[in-house]
Amino acid sequence: MNLNVLIVPGDGIGVEVTKEAVRVLEHTCKKFNHSLHLTEGLLGGVAIHKTGGPFPEETRKLALEADATLMGAVGLPEFDNWPPEKRPERGLLGIRKALGVYANLRPVKSYPSLLDSSPLKNHLVDGVDMIIVRELTGGIYYGTPRGITGEGGEERGTNTMTYTRDEIARVTRMAFSLARNRRKKVTSVDKSNVLETSQLWRRVVCEVAPEFPDVELEHILVDNCAMQLILRPKQFDVVVMENMFGDILSDEGAVIAGSIGMLPSASIGGKKPSGAWVGLYEPVHGSAPDIAGQNKANPLGAIGSVAAMFEYSFGLMKEAQAVYKAMEEVLNSGKTTADLKPKGTPATTEQVGESVCDAI
Ligand code: IPM
Ligand code: MG
Repeated sequence: MNLNVLIVPGDGIGVEVTKEAVRVLEHTCKKFNHSLHLTEGLLGGVAIHKTGGPFPEETRKLALEADATLMGAVGLPEFDNWPPEKRPERGLLGIRKALGVYANLRPVKSYPSLLDSSPLKNHLVDGVDMIIVRELTGGIYYGTPRGITGEGGEERGTNTMTYTRDEIARVTRMAFSLARNRRKKVTSVDKSNVLETSQLWRRVVCEVAPEFPDVELEHILVDNCAMQLILRPKQFDVVVMENMFGDILSDEGAVIAGSIGMLPSASIGGKKPSGAWVGLYEPVHGSAPDIAGQNKANPLGAIGSVAAMFEYSFGLMKEAQAVYKAMEEVLNSGKTTADLKPKGTPATTEQVGESVCDAI
């Protein structure tokens, strides 16, 4: 198969974890006889430095030409006081919207060798296997009006959470389709006791559900969900929610997996102007400027995102499984980065990437 992949390392540890993810991507393609064509694009703080803006036109073009994009992370502390429309993060929102990847899949699972890396008790974490499906191209991240207006005591910040029926229905269908091949349970998260967007959300989810009679549906309020994720995480299979709820609750999911460095993500559902499907793959973690350039960041979230790319963008299940299995082997060996309580001296980012390749 021909795989055309755009690599967007971004900022901070994005650069070093992406390098290891690319190492695994290249190695797996070689091993399974696929021809891989890589291009590289700028996004985030590095793009601001080199081009003046966080999402250069060239990157948009490259992303729309590629079959899939592998991203690192964006964000640098020097832009902390910049307005949202100029910040590195706006580049990420831009590429998600440009590709139309409305469903962000964030699998949260416990690895037997990492049970002690979670602050939760082993029996709570052992056996957790869920997918958070986060709506990714709508809601309060994109809604207008937005901005800061007025002065003095009347200075006002405004953001708008808004959803259309179609936006809710398509991500709901994605969640149900995933559940069909899993434990056949969808939990929809909302705040319908307060928000109109959530009331519409719940109504539309209920309307879509009968298309999937074999899948059980339950609703949960977002505050209760935050608690249940810690109290009884094993109850969840596929959990679907709007953009900002998903941003927040997926970081909570990281506590179950043992480290935010472990979580991969796949953003799917998008189509190119040609009609071809397109995906964006990125670890859930941020750019972690405090440890950037030190060769100690955990690359497994980025490497897991490569596995997700094989699975969702290319339908290459054997290749995906080979990567997942190799990751598990490395975890079992205990030769991991410092965030995972390694056996002995912590491994470097590069060593973890190399070990995954060796295991493949
Ligand atoms: C994430 C991140 C991003 C988001 C930031 C960096 C804009 O936190 O992917 O979870 O909020 O979507
Ligand atoms: Mg986040």
